[in-house]
Amino acid sequence: MSELSVNHLLGIKYLTKEDIELIFKNADHFKEVINRPIKKVPSLRDITIANLFFENSTRTRLSFELAEKRLSADIVNFSAASSSVKKGETLIDTVNNILSMKVDMVVMRHPNPGAGIFLSRHVKASIINAGDGAHEHPTQALLDTYSIRERLGDVAGKKVVIVGDILHSRVALSNIFALKLQGAEVKVCGPKTLIPKHIESLGVKVETDLKNALEWCDVANMLRVQNERMDISYFPSTREYAQQFQLNKKMLESLNKEIVVMHPGPINRGVEITSDVADAENAIILDQVQNGVAVRMAVIYLLASKINR
Ligand code: NCD
Repeated sequence: MSELSVNHLLGIKYLTKEDIELIFKNADHFKEVINRPIKKVPSLRDITIANLFFENSTRTRLSFELAEKRLSADIVNFSAASSSVKKGETLIDTVNNILSMKVDMVVMRHPNPGAGIFLSRHVKASIINAGDGAHEHPTQALLDTYSIRERLGDVAGKKVVIVGDILHSRVALSNIFALKLQGAEVKVCGPKTLIPKHIESLGVKVETDLKNALEWCDVANMLRVQNERMDISYFPSTREYAQQFQLNKKMLESLNKEIVVMHPGPINRGVEITSDVADAENAIILDQVQNGVAVRMAVIYLLASKINR
């Protein structure tokens, strides 16, 4: 297979196993490119990409921007805080205005679940979802599973536990889809109030005891509590949350084995993970960030090759 089955990257839910294999194959190549002294290829010299961020972002935004620059695309950046959205303009009007300036692809982060899907039905451009509310964050799940494959050789057959605020996390949902598609076993762990009711229907198991979950897994993906998406309290206090669900050195040393530690960032040091664990050798948090650029280059390159102009 040499092309993706989709014209947009809206969620892992819409991808096939072969799509992911193709993205990883291309990411391997781009990873080699970004480690060269000249980290740039002319592949997308004729493509213009708009990065539309209606929600805060550091890593994802910089990572997409770097990926686009390293493919030699032209880019325009937009952030909702300083735009006419504040004057009442609709999403479709905002995007159509940008597209009329001859933009081929849109990378969008938006607080509303489904915003990317909606846009893909109404505008003529290839859409990449860079996070839509608590729904999906497909490129994060791709770079996470790519990083597992890099560290452990394969994703198939690996046991992965996702710990924390599963209810509000787009990283959790996209990771569940990506891990299952690639043949991993998945558990979720966190306070009962932060685990969606029917999560088992996605083929994952629930474990509310962190120690048990860690004893079982090869990889622990530690998530941040998404306070900004909560309108009520889901646990008594941050201190109690940390007491039960924090990954710290003592907990790691109590296991009879080494596990790989992941975190999508931003980290709340001292809450879901302590600094000594986040900075340890078996934490691949910075590898995840580095791989993010190569994986996003692969996604952009493959989607751009499907654009009819
Ligand atoms: C995540 C996000 O924005 O969904 N971060 C990221 O993209 N690297 C996770 C988070 O905000 O906790």
